[in-house]
Amino acid sequence: MADTEFDVIVIGAGPGGYVAAIRAAQLGLRTACVESRETLGGTCLNVGCIPSKALLHASELFEEANHGTLAKWGVKVGQVELDLDAMHAGRKEAVGGLTKGIEFLFKKNKVAWLKGHARFTAKDAIDVGGTAYRAKNFVIATGSSVTPLPGVEIDQRRIVDSTGALELDKVPGHLVVIGGGVIGLELGSVWKRLGAKVTVVEYLDQILPGMDGEVRKEANKIFKKQGFEFHLSTKVTGAQAGGEGVRLTVEPAAGGAAETIEADVVLVSIGRRPNTDGLGLDAAGVPLNKRGQIEVDHDFRTAVPGIYAIGDVTPGPMLAHKAEDEGVAVAEILAGQVGIVNHDVIPSVVYTFPEIASVGLTEEEAKARGEVKVGKFPMMANSRAKTNRETDGFVKIVADARSDRVLGVHIIASVAGTMIAQAAQAMEFGATSEDIAYTCHAHPTHSEAVKEAAMAVTGKPIHV
Ligand code: FAD
Ligand code: NAI
Repeated sequence: MADTEFDVIVIGAGPGGYVAAIRAAQLGLRTACVESRETLGGTCLNVGCIPSKALLHASELFEEANHGTLAKWGVKVGQVELDLDAMHAGRKEAVGGLTKGIEFLFKKNKVAWLKGHARFTAKDAIDVGGTAYRAKNFVIATGSSVTPLPGVEIDQRRIVDSTGALELDKVPGHLVVIGGGVIGLELGSVWKRLGAKVTVVEYLDQILPGMDGEVRKEANKIFKKQGFEFHLSTKVTGAQAGGEGVRLTVEPAAGGAAETIEADVVLVSIGRRPNTDGLGLDAAGVPLNKRGQIEVDHDFRTAVPGIYAIGDVTPGPMLAHKAEDEGVAVAEILAGQVGIVNHDVIPSVVYTFPEIASVGLTEEEAKARGEVKVGKFPMMANSRAKTNRETDGFVKIVADARSDRVLGVHIIASVAGTMIAQAAQAMEFGATSEDIAYTCHAHPTHSEAVKEAAMAVTGKPIHV
């Protein structure tokens, strides 16, 4: 085979693409992965999951020291000072280490890294920086970018997207977040903990769209208690950036009198859209749906034989682990094996404090399909949460009324992101609420709240 010919070329080295490339190479396929960024790892490792979690962790430590949580436990720290440069250095170190790690894995597994922007010139050929490459199969894993808001021009200084919000060189006095979704609440939490006043402007009548109704309401209550200010059912109609700040014009979503909000920094986080610009999909004959996504079938095949797509560029939740699992599955399919992703059981976690995690159907979705039983258990009654003084939140289990099969689990708790894994595994194995209720859980752990919520499905929890 010539140097420019491969069994598989993966376009994009995010969690979907790099995982697909490594798996394909492990299965003996001659594999290349094209990436236009300087480093591997995509949105998630460079400007998404990893840097945001580094700042969430660091800012939580700062807040614990600064607002007396440590002192309440007898840990006196004296004068607390913020060294934002050191915090950013920690973030960069995390990103650098992990992106280099992918480079190492590419070398180890003999994945060829083609540096540059890929563009289809035909259905079996791409151009990268003036060189033509051919492959038997292509996997499009080009991910997503921030959705722009007309009239609110991002300059990454006064008006930023998530990438700019990860790199602010000082704590804004007033941060206004447009969009009360995952990014707005996570990055809003970072800067709030470091001292900013945070106002969230959300178009809908509640934050966190798509989540279970009770979870959305409870989360709103908890964040308000933390000092977040919410303008719900409100739309932003314009932004004027000056030397010192931004004047935002807002009005009720349903129409009405306009108001202005003065901000030092504005974060635009109203969702993300698929990356397909300049990819030459016309030349390959791959169509887009109305939302600009590449539609795929159960086996990740696009409308064009030999071209597959995974991750954020396809419909479904925009989550790193969904992209990764699809990466493994598509590579296994290309190697002639059976690759499957159960899209009904994809957990999602919002890494605020407390964390918010869910898997499966919301109560509203489940009720629309049939009769359900619901069990709830408050973290206030969980001994470990109470001991740690982390009592906000609850576990909620939605089960089919007849079969008792678990349809959805929704958790607000300090460690909800860890707790949701057992719920996902139980659902993957087709568990009933009774199965969870009769599984022995270690004491004292937050996870006992999952067992008690399962017991509550039949009305018999012990500790409430
Ligand atoms: P991406 O990670 O977007 O990677 C696509 C890659 O393709 C990019 O590197 C891009 O440069 C490259 N590319 C695009 N077009 C071309 C081309 N034509 N030629 C060559 N290369 C190209 N998800 C979670 O599950 N957990 C989290 O905690 C989390 N936190 C997040 C925090 C933030 C601030 C953001 C923005 C996102 C977060 N996400 C999180 C979402 C997560 O980052 C994405 O779901 C995930 O990265 C999608 O993976 P992907 O492989 O589909 O695409
Ligand atoms: P999002 O879809 O989570 O939230 C966007 C919010 O903006 C919604 O509440 C929406 O109603 C609101 N909105 C839309 N247009 C608006 C307007 N004009 N004015 C005011 N509000 C408006 O999108 P977000 O937060 O940008 O995140 C993008 C994606 O990144 C998410 O889909 C998520 O899957 C992923 N992500 C995941 C994380 C995680 O798993 N922890 C962390 C961060 C991002």
